[in-house]
Amino acid sequence: MKYGYFDDENREYVITDPITPWPWINYLGNEDFFSLISNTAGGYAFYKDAKFRRLTRYRYNNVPMDNGGRYFYINDHDTVWSPGWKPVKTPLDKYECRHGLSYTRIKGEKNGLEAEVLFFVPLKSWCEVQKVKLTNNSPEAKSFKLFSFMEWCLWNAEDDQNNLQRNLSTGEVEIAGSTIYHKTEYKERRNHYAFYHVNSEIQGFDTDRESFVGLYNEYSGPQAVLEGKPRNSHAHGWSPVASHYLEIELKPGESKELVFILGYVENSDDEKWESKNLINKVKAKDAIEQFNTPGKVDAALKDLQKYWDDLLSGYVLNSGDERLDRMVNIWNQYQCMVTFNMSRSASFFEVGIGRGMGFRDSNQDLIGFVHQIPERAKERIIDIASTQFEDGGAYHQYQPLTKRGNDAIGGNFNDDPLWLILSTTEYIKETGDYGILDEMVPFDNDESRAKPHFDHLKASFYHVVNNIGPHGLPLIGRADWNDCLNLNCFSTNPNESFQTTENKSGGTAESVMIAGLFVVYGREFVKLCRQIGNNDEADAAEPHVDRMVDAIKKHGWDGDWYLRAYDFYGKKVGSKENQEGQIFIESQGWCSMAEIGRDEGMVHKALDAVKERLDCEYGIVLNNPAFTSYVLEYGEISTYPAGYKENAGIFCHNNPWIMIGETMIGRGEQAWEYYRKICPAYLEDISDLHKTEPYVYSQMIAGKDAHKPGEAKNSWLTGTAAWNYYAITRYILGVRPDYDGIIIDPCIPSSWKGYGVSRKLRGTTYNIKVENPDGVCKGVKEIRVNGKKCNDSIVSYSPGEVLDVEVIMG
Ligand code: BGC
Ligand code: NOJ
Repeated sequence: MKYGYFDDENREYVITDPITPWPWINYLGNEDFFSLISNTAGGYAFYKDAKFRRLTRYRYNNVPMDNGGRYFYINDHDTVWSPGWKPVKTPLDKYECRHGLSYTRIKGEKNGLEAEVLFFVPLKSWCEVQKVKLTNNSPEAKSFKLFSFMEWCLWNAEDDQNNLQRNLSTGEVEIAGSTIYHKTEYKERRNHYAFYHVNSEIQGFDTDRESFVGLYNEYSGPQAVLEGKPRNSHAHGWSPVASHYLEIELKPGESKELVFILGYVENSDDEKWESKNLINKVKAKDAIEQFNTPGKVDAALKDLQKYWDDLLSGYVLNSGDERLDRMVNIWNQYQCMVTFNMSRSASFFEVGIGRGMGFRDSNQDLIGFVHQIPERAKERIIDIASTQFEDGGAYHQYQPLTKRGNDAIGGNFNDDPLWLILSTTEYIKETGDYGILDEMVPFDNDESRAKPHFDHLKASFYHVVNNIGPHGLPLIGRADWNDCLNLNCFSTNPNESFQTTENKSGGTAESVMIAGLFVVYGREFVKLCRQIGNNDEADAAEPHVDRMVDAIKKHGWDGDWYLRAYDFYGKKVGSKENQEGQIFIESQGWCSMAEIGRDEGMVHKALDAVKERLDCEYGIVLNNPAFTSYVLEYGEISTYPAGYKENAGIFCHNNPWIMIGETMIGRGEQAWEYYRKICPAYLEDISDLHKTEPYVYSQMIAGKDAHKPGEAKNSWLTGTAAWNYYAITRYILGVRPDYDGIIIDPCIPSSWKGYGVSRKLRGTTYNIKVENPDGVCKGVKEIRVNGKKCNDSIVSYSPGEVLDVEVIMG
């Protein structure tokens, strides 16, 4: 069953029933100020950092769920309703939510009154704008009451939930005209406040939650709204909120537009005050001035749409399959922007206080984003690398506000360093900017220990070389990409986290996944060294990669597939010899991408084993058989019930590794089948089962061993976005930037007749037309550039030019 439809022309998903199987959300904001918004207007806003600078309050895991957001209440002669259905839940005569690229438009109609609210964060601004359009569609004049409402968060989202003994006494607000200012802690150590404004005279307001809602009422029926009477309350401690009250009259057919602005301001110490205890409002007023008319708002929305037009013009597919086109051209790229911005910090599954920017996560997210705004990608690479240690190891995350690495969510994950080689080489291939390698980048955020970025890549490479185990394979450390394969952890205490607890000393557990990863990115490192003429480095590094290939062949092969690891005791993990967890996806992916033992048939065999043992109706599961009891020496992986998360869930992030592996051996049908299975636009018809948004990837779909296979969780913030974009664009459609030109090497189902891709790269526009007259999966027999036969399989860069590239497969 579907709950809406794709409107590709407007690049929107249109939800037509508010009762979706789970809140279907969107993100507003692209740089500093962000908001999460559900299809019923639930969610919250923050400035840069969802943990340290949360502006509005939201309660996760609430009953009912998704309660709290930016709400409008209408009291129309005792019929009380909200345009987004929630929180009042009065049945609406009409409802529609359009999630677009960085904006959301929610429209409700009741008894002839239509209320449409447009939400977005204008470019380069520190505010969320809400334009409310009220239209009287009835034949009678209408007079009704409108209340806005949101609850302030006292900035630190974690402390806000925990430290009530203090927080219930600190809340402070100011009310000036139609603007409500939230200034808790401003008079002491904070240099920021927030405000909520409406561009019209108000007939009342509330800033104290209990006065507005009523101590024993709920968001669905605040006392002030039900009685149609604001309290004009002034918050002193307790829970400060912001609510405007407006009395409105509309003739039949008449409309009125109002602009609400939720903003954030920073003031330096010497400009904090207007007078004793009154905050300096100059910057707030400036921000208000920028957007306080419907005309200004419409212009800002146009700018935002233009911004997205430009971003999405870098890769445009015309395949004839509308679901594929909408994923590649719109939604997958959009999700990549969101994962770039959020890493794993704030979604409806990530509470925004646990995880900031992940070292491995953000490096991987870059591969889906780098073509959109390469300059921001570069800045991110430098930020990440600045948290690296001199030995190549890394903090696992940093908070976006401080940009300083910290081990709040653990450390010593031995795959981390290698992802920096991936992001940097992809950045250079995209831009040709080798200058990044010379940028001075601190280690451990210490400027005095800055070295050229190249040295960071080298440190990454040698971190693996310097941490080799007894079989010549990389030591796994706390874990590799699979955070839950904790081979040195041995945790028996339910109160400790697998991610942070002290590991058993002397562990020599090894990872075949890191081994494959090292071969892929070790080779990339060698290639980069040669590319910049540093043959000495390349010559020194290459034998380490060759040795790793040998080690995998010798100790990483189980006969029919690649092993996954060796545990603390040196016993095989992911082998026929095991009872459960005989085969794992990650090492099949990385070792086949590295083409290890390809000539001996290892890649084919391993991928056949994936098909046979891991594939199911909804995607490829992570391991098989699933673990059915806790294995002390394996850790968190065996804590999950069978079929969920890392224990045999379809962990979508790793499925594209198999797709890419399949393209290495030319199996286009198979690569495509795997792609389609987990691609959200193809799952729209089973939204009931799938549950999460049909326009974005989820981290996990319950696997074949689960209670309900096919049910997804953890939408939006997942490396799945970048990796699937990478797999489809670079390996299935086969359009891949390289150092000296663009490679076009498709691997598609033989039934595909062809497709077109327009790709902008380094100032060149390539209008690529792929034709498949012989019905092959892979192989290019001819490339013509502007009608002329090209002797190479790489089409070179020609800045400023528009090239017609004809690719004939065969
Ligand atoms: C999850 C992983 C996640 C890890 C770190 C685990 O509980 O299963 O997917 O990477 O936590 O936050
Ligand atoms: C989610 C984490 O964000 C990511 O870093 C990790 O690789 C996967 N889970 C797998 O455990």
